[in-house]
Amino acid sequence: MRRIPHRLWLRASLVLLLGLSLGACFGPEKDTHPNQVLTKRRALFKQFTRMLEPIGLVASGRKPYQREEFLSSVQDLEKLADKPWLYFPADGNYPPTRSKPEVWSQPEKFKLAQDNYRSAVHELLLVAQRGDQPALAKAVDAVTASCKSCHRDFRNE
Ligand code: HEC
Repeated sequence: MRRIPHRLWLRASLVLLLGLSLGACFGPEKDTHPNQVLTKRRALFKQFTRMLEPIGLVASGRKPYQREEFLSSVQDLEKLADKPWLYFPADGNYPPTRSKPEVWSQPEKFKLAQDNYRSAVHELLLVAQRGDQPALAKAVDAVTASCKSCHRDFRNE
């Protein structure tokens, strides 16, 4: 067997190391889409969760109801209600997405789930604008139910 020169080994292992560290940085988490649609829709969904938190606390009685503050939280949630759907283009199904293929194979049903969500949020906005505290918990439930219903049909756990 021919001896492989030490220098060559060194170079080969450097190349390997570089490859591994690049892989670790960008590997499975790299968003390969030119418009980074997966990163964008995920960031919006995370904001959904963040915006919903104070609303849920009031609905469950763990945070006191204050009309103006509550209205402002609901307005924040409502502003986002149209946003994530813009980031599900035809070529938007790629790893590591959690979306089910039905997002793309059943676009009308997916659209309907968006409409249900939007109208639940709109209903909650009306309740918040009226300052209708007794109706609040039920309206918040309807919003979270529509999140869950869409996830059941269109998101992998
Ligand atoms: C019309 C469908 C639909 C509605 C309504 C919906 N989601 Fe989602 N959500 C999805 C889909 C699809 C994904 C998976 C996105 C992906 O990975 O491609 C998702 C992903 C998420 C994620 C994970 C984000 C990540 O970083 O991977 C969170 C958190 C989330 N949704 C929260 C919510 C909350 C909270 C609501 C309601 C206030 C909501 N969603 C309403 C469809 C929906």
